[in-house]
Amino acid sequence: MILKIVKYPDPVLEKPGEPVTEFNAELRKFVADMFETTYASQGIGLAAPQVGVSKRLTVIDLSLGKDPAQKLVLINPEITFSEGKQYEEEGCLSFPEIREKVVRAAKVRIRAQDAHGKWFEMDGEELLARAFQHEIDHVDGIVFIFRMSALKRNLNLRKIRKMQSEGTW
Ligand code: NI
Repeated sequence: MILKIVKYPDPVLEKPGEPVTEFNAELRKFVADMFETTYASQGIGLAAPQVGVSKRLTVIDLSLGKDPAQKLVLINPEITFSEGKQYEEEGCLSFPEIREKVVRAAKVRIRAQDAHGKWFEMDGEELLARAFQHEIDHVDGIVFIFRMSALKRNLNLRKIRKMQSEGTW
């Protein structure tokens, strides 16, 4: 089932998600719906708050659904190590049309549970590191415009207000 993606400034996007405690069939159905929604939107990642569910859960697939081995489910995720810097363009399904360069760590290590509750660790660099940081920010209630410089944030907030007033947001 394709879920409805909420757009900024829906308050759920700025609220830290609740930890996931039940790893049951209902959770796994939700994870499947999250992937289906991500692919339908041509995204590489989606976090539960973006579909109005304030939980610490995110899915990532850099292959856009082409390679099942790249499907990642991160539940109760945290970054345990980061190093270096990268500065690349980023977008977000809750901010259609907005793309901006954002500073992120070049490499990160994450720790998370899978859909069955098993803890695992994983390292990521470049785009994967960026996806980890963007999506883990979402489960913490942080959206990417707050990772931009104040100047770019204000320009984009103005652009959003303009689109809202034109009914195109
Ligand atoms: Ni996003």
